[in-house]
Amino acid sequence: MKRLVPIVLAALTLGACATEATPSRAELAADGLEIAEAQCAACHSIGAYGDSPMAQAPPFRSVLSRYREDVLKEELIAGIRVTHPMPEFQFNPQSVDALLAYMNSIQTAE
Ligand code: HEC
Repeated sequence: MKRLVPIVLAALTLGACATEATPSRAELAADGLEIAEAQCAACHSIGAYGDSPMAQAPPFRSVLSRYREDVLKEELIAGIRVTHPMPEFQFNPQSVDALLAYMNSIQTAE
């Protein structure tokens, strides 16, 4: 019995770290929604329905039907300038994961 205690403690500590290091998809998506609201919603429709405020900006719910997620991720990290008539964005990988998790949560089969 004595020998079990450190093992159980180690397992508990590892478990705690794991939840902190990897937020759930829902948590990520919630962060992504915040980023989208703050930085993208002026031009893009960021919800599950509705037109974009700026007609040329595609609604986020259809973006992943044209873009591969990994390509979009790289572009967001590198800063999308090419497709964008707007201030240059440069996101860190965590924010991009959040944005993509959010985008995934609203994609339609368009
Ligand atoms: C000032 C207006 C504006 C803002 C703010 C804006 N966008 Fe855009 N975005 C556009 C326009 C306009 C296009 C279409 C450009 C084109 O087709 O050449 C576009 C295109 C895109 C595309 C390519 C979509 C596709 O299907 O081809 C992505 C991805 C994108 N925006 C992501 C974002 C993200 C993420 C944010 C917020 C961090 C953001 N945009 C903020 C105006 C904006």
